[in-house]
Amino acid sequence: MGVYEVLLPKRVVFGDVGAEKIGAEAQRLGATKAFIVTDESIRKIGVLEKVVTPLKAVVDVEIFDRVESEPTLQAAEMIASAARAANYNLVVGVGGGSVLDMAKIAAAVIANPRQPVTEFLGANKIANPSVPKLLIPTTAGTGAEATPYALVISEGKKKAIASPYNLADVILISPSFTATMPPEVTAATGMDAMSHAIEAVLSLGANPLTDSFALEAIRKVADNIEEAVMHGDNLDARLKLSIAAMLGGMAFGNAGVIAGHAAAHTIGARYKISHAKSSALTLPYIMEYNAPAAQEKLAKIARELGEDISRLTDDVAASKAIARVKGLLETLKLPTRLADLGVPKEALPDLADAMAKEKGYLARNPRKLELEDAVTLFERMWSG
Ligand SMILES: [Fe+2]
Repeated sequence: MGVYEVLLPKRVVFGDVGAEKIGAEAQRLGATKAFIVTDESIRKIGVLEKVVTPLKAVVDVEIFDRVESEPTLQAAEMIASAARAANYNLVVGVGGGSVLDMAKIAAAVIANPRQPVTEFLGANKIANPSVPKLLIPTTAGTGAEATPYALVISEGKKKAIASPYNLADVILISPSFTATMPPEVTAATGMDAMSHAIEAVLSLGANPLTDSFALEAIRKVADNIEEAVMHGDNLDARLKLSIAAMLGGMAFGNAGVIAGHAAAHTIGARYKISHAKSSALTLPYIMEYNAPAAQEKLAKIARELGEDISRLTDDVAASKAIARVKGLLETLKLPTRLADLGVPKEALPDLADAMAKEKGYLARNPRKLELEDAVTLFERMWSG
């Protein structure tokens, strides 16, 4: 028996979260001046207003709505200077993973006025605890609301700022914030959540508690994703998918993700393919690659995916899990081959080379993955 540590956000408020609850949470955190981080699309779909109106009733509010997807270090520095412009004592992030990550950075820079964002890169580099932050996810996928990471692109690579200070003081989850997501985004982000959960189980960093979060997340995504995609107004399915995404974040925020995300980040840093789509695409291939080293874990995953494995050997159950994930991607009409996403075949050696350098992710991968394995893997992912 080992000794394990798990870091988690402080407070989760979820369900039918109304306006009065949003204001009350800001007051509970002692806020008087809030810096809101979001993007243009969240404003356009009307979700931002649902958050800002009740906040304005209790605190002063300033809005930064220019977060781009897959933000660079330069973009993060720009948000940092806006966050330092006044004495904010609350940061509210309203959006998808990129927005929530930038909210974490904003909360950190306010408490560390002399540290540039670049000094935060790596593990435990934020000197002073961040100002309180309230994170409101508008997608059900990244799990960013629940992780101690903020990701930025620097020198063409996705790099992590890992710190317990990045964990949320409050997470607010309500299906009313995710209900406007179109079916395609619901599908891709939901399968990103699935990839976090499955990779967290397979990770060598897994422990019994992260397994509990991840296995439940797998079950909830499998049970609800098709319904949430087909009937976006089914708020019960939406809420369950959001809980699954958060549980996935709690799992991989501690156990780490593995080779699938090494590949997805490599693809995302070079091509304008959403993180959700690329990590969903890599998932069955990464399960297949790891099967020789992780049959028992894949059998457990198969059970959570709804397969009856009672009379199956682990290797047969593992192949059922892979087939089920492939089947889900096809049912949800998500891309399953890199060739279909406009990635040229000539780019594969470079992509494989970049993936093989993602040592942090690969160190947790249950099956050793060298450059030549990465080349084969990218060829498989390209041709299907
Ligand atoms: Fe992901």
